[in-house]
Amino acid sequence: MKQHTLLMPLDMHLHLRDGVMLENVAPLSSYSFSGAVVMPNLVPPVTTKIALLDYKHRILNATGQNRYDDDFDDLLEEEGFGGDFEPFMTLFYNNYSKEFLEEVADEIIGIKLYPAGITTNSESGVASFDLNEMRPTLEAMSDLEIPLLVHGETDGFVMDREAEFMSIYEMLATAFPKLKIIMEHITTKAAVDMLSLHDNLYATITIHHLLINLDDVVGGMMKPHLFCKPIAKRPEDQAALLSVALEGHPKVMFGSDSAPHPQHAKEACGCAAGVFTAPIALQLLAELFDENDALDNLQAFVSDNAQVIYSICPEFKEVTLVQEEFKVPENYSGVVPMFAGETIKWSIENVD
Ligand code: DOR
Ligand code: ZN
Repeated sequence: MKQHTLLMPLDMHLHLRDGVMLENVAPLSSYSFSGAVVMPNLVPPVTTKIALLDYKHRILNATGQNRYDDDFDDLLEEEGFGGDFEPFMTLFYNNYSKEFLEEVADEIIGIKLYPAGITTNSESGVASFDLNEMRPTLEAMSDLEIPLLVHGETDGFVMDREAEFMSIYEMLATAFPKLKIIMEHITTKAAVDMLSLHDNLYATITIHHLLINLDDVVGGMMKPHLFCKPIAKRPEDQAALLSVALEGHPKVMFGSDSAPHPQHAKEACGCAAGVFTAPIALQLLAELFDENDALDNLQAFVSDNAQVIYSICPEFKEVTLVQEEFKVPENYSGVVPMFAGETIKWSIENVD
């Protein structure tokens, strides 16, 4: 039976939420990933050092890594959950002072910028991309080597939002050539093409945007569990994403954008945006890369590129995947995953 081993898989864009949801979903990521970049779009968003450290503490608790509760730790270990998982924390972009950024620089992997109102809990994001207003913060980030992570969509027509945002990436990348800018969850050929235009632009790509296009979301019966922002685009966009992911392009990293919402919020008139993939992401990646004879490049996509781009050295973890069918659960604690109830071709055999 075909097997494939991954070392230190990393999820470079993950929503863990808070409270009971956090407790339910965090162990699903900490089981198979060495670390994840945790999004700050809580209610309210994470904008202070205290909020950041408290949130990190709650994540470590939820993944059984605060060692004051030995019984809970033992239980998680028996179940195969928890341990050796680093939450790489992010702040929600505001125009911050340099003093503040100096104080938090060691605690964060980057700062996540949301255009105001563009997606879940982003109302207090950036309302206008006025460089004069943003310059002190972005210059300080550049000096302190704090990457800028961007949700790159305008408020234009939904299919054009990402492509329209390219001029903003262009402006930022040119004005701050030493600032590392990560184009998060790219969905278009336009974004793929940007990678070769600026040395300081990088990208994350989700598994769902590699597997689906808009037809899969609304071409037949409408699939709320595939609805996310940015929305999946055209087949030619999907093909462009696939080509850079499958080749293990050094400027591209895996970021699931796994975004759990309760079932009732997805199966609703006014469906929340987000695809929940955390527990099946590595299995789906193995299946996809195997079917494209690209398994040898998966390690770069799912860990090595991110280690270089972000200069991180994750905790050791070895995940053995095997080409054995896995029936995806209908839900995980009330959250419906992608491919719920369907059978996928690869499973996780072992995590060390
Ligand atoms: O589909 C999405 N869901 N896109 C985002 O940008 C945010 C995310 C969420 O937080 O639910
Ligand atoms: Zn996201």
